[in-house]
Amino acid sequence: MEEKNTITPMPRIGEKAPEFVAQTTQGQINFPQDYKGSWTILFSHPADFTPVCTSEFMTFANMEEKFAEANCKLVGLSVDGLYSHIAWLRTIKEKIEYKGMKDIEVKFPLIEDITMDVAKKYGMMMPGESNTKAVRAVFFIDPNSIIRAIIYYPLSLGRNFDELYRALIAMQTADEFGIATPADWVPGDDVIISPAGSCGMAKERMEDKDLDCKDWFFCTKKLDKEKVLKAVLKK
Ligand code: BEZ
Repeated sequence: MEEKNTITPMPRIGEKAPEFVAQTTQGQINFPQDYKGSWTILFSHPADFTPVCTSEFMTFANMEEKFAEANCKLVGLSVDGLYSHIAWLRTIKEKIEYKGMKDIEVKFPLIEDITMDVAKKYGMMMPGESNTKAVRAVFFIDPNSIIRAIIYYPLSLGRNFDELYRALIAMQTADEFGIATPADWVPGDDVIISPAGSCGMAKERMEDKDLDCKDWFFCTKKLDKEKVLKAVLKK
């Protein structure tokens, strides 16, 4: 008899975010429907009451307002239960001081996923790393519920939340201005114009005074930091 293939395909960039209903520390959520109109970062962590995850939650919670100003909501997940989540977050608030952060209240929802249904749906389980814990996955989902970027980290590596913020602002800037962002781009740096589609277009671009073209395929232009921030913050 043919064996039934039970492996869930991994979600991919450009696809609609898989749907689920889940219980969280902030009540039930209907994902991604409840988040339409905002960017969302859906991220998993291996386990409650672990040190790397604790440092990550404190850092992310400390930056929540900054992400909110960029129209981005945060949603966490681990394969622990709700009471574990609640006890861990309470302990963080009451007892943990880290890098000058203390009394940190995690206000964004943390999904309980003891069945691992959501983690499997989103490809957060990586058996080579662990069969019982989700890896550190980060899904950037846009206001139309489309997955725009996915980043994975192993269990031992805490994420860089400044980089997650930079990536969010870069994607929003690309959408807003129809440009691309080069390596290590931050607001205020020059942006990339997509390569010309024809020889005529390339020639036109090389002669465009607003562009800095090093060759037909490599043109940049200035984009003021203020213009970027005005477009992406508090929309
Ligand atoms: C941590 O968050 O500290 C951690 C979790 C799982 C494996 C290793 C480290």
